[in-house]
Amino acid sequence: DKGNHRHFMLKEIYEQPVVVAQTLRSYLRPLEEKVALPDMEFDLSSVERVTIVACGTAYYVGMIGKYWIERFARLPVEVDFASEFRYRDPVLLANTLGVVVSQSGETADTLAALRHMKASGVTTAGIINVPTSSMAREVDLLMPTHAGPEIGVASTKAFTCQLAVMAALAVNLARAKGRLDPDEERDIVRHLTEVPAAINAALAHDAEIEAMAGTIASARDVLYLGRGPDYPLALEGALKLKEISYIHAEGYASGEMKHGPIALIDEHVPLIVIAPSGPLFDKTVSNMHEAQARGAQVVLISDAQGLAAAGDDAVATIEMPAVHPLIAPIVYAVPVQLLAYHVAVAKGTDVDQPRNLAKSVTVE
Ligand code: F6R
Repeated sequence: DKGNHRHFMLKEIYEQPVVVAQTLRSYLRPLEEKVALPDMEFDLSSVERVTIVACGTAYYVGMIGKYWIERFARLPVEVDFASEFRYRDPVLLANTLGVVVSQSGETADTLAALRHMKASGVTTAGIINVPTSSMAREVDLLMPTHAGPEIGVASTKAFTCQLAVMAALAVNLARAKGRLDPDEERDIVRHLTEVPAAINAALAHDAEIEAMAGTIASARDVLYLGRGPDYPLALEGALKLKEISYIHAEGYASGEMKHGPIALIDEHVPLIVIAPSGPLFDKTVSNMHEAQARGAQVVLISDAQGLAAAGDDAVATIEMPAVHPLIAPIVYAVPVQLLAYHVAVAKGTDVDQPRNLAKSVTVE
């Protein structure tokens, strides 16, 4: 049932404040200002490295997880496409925690990668939305997302819920490794607690984003830029746009643009810049100005402070609530999803069932 919404995708985008809150509730202990994981039979303090394996949107959750786990737990993290991992004879050293991320829990490549890790003696954890799925049954530690059934082929609410759980995992690893003091943990819990309200504030920009969609719908190519944990979000934005609007799109790490992709820029290529204010802001904005000098039509997604600092030469802006850079990828996912949605609607594509795609990819 789509409720009052025209598509499942839009309904699922709008469910995010509720389902992310629901997911966070099972990992946060707000009174103790702590993050907790489900009971487990192994000791996270023995983990020396982390390998995250997933596909598509879930893979980008892994890339963001790499930033968080390295930053807080100071553990080396590798992230791999499940389809590459399983055919590469990967080196799995002792004390590796293997993490799979999957909405369906049935993606063939991710399931095979999980089995490969288990057969190699690696302890595994899974961030999974379908509790009865094969992966949910086979992982050593199940970390469920509580996104509810996701019907739209383009993953939206599963993505933000997976990020919430990934943040909880990063904090737990950090504590287990003795690398997180209680004050820092308290701050992170506070920031995570603010996420549902911040998602609501982001949703309030829906009409504005819809108004921009017409122009972007006529583009042949669209580029997305982000830095740090917002780089995987740039990749996610491009994937979402491609899969439902059939417009060619690419995401780049902001600093990589001048190493090649900048040659693509002209006045016909919209450039979506994801740049929350924070330590990486100035660098990304200077990359944005380089692109503008070559005629790029920029949409800047930032907070009030960032938009003011960038000046008014961005063609269009989307103002996000001020959030800690740690949680920005969860909140900034919303405008990225809405933009893809409205562009697809403007193009008249089948948003919930885009051509050539299946909700769950159970063949290799
Ligand atoms: C994109 C999308 C896909 C899935 C990928 C993995 O919107 O939905 O890229 O993220 O097929 O699926 P799961 O998470 O079910 O393993």
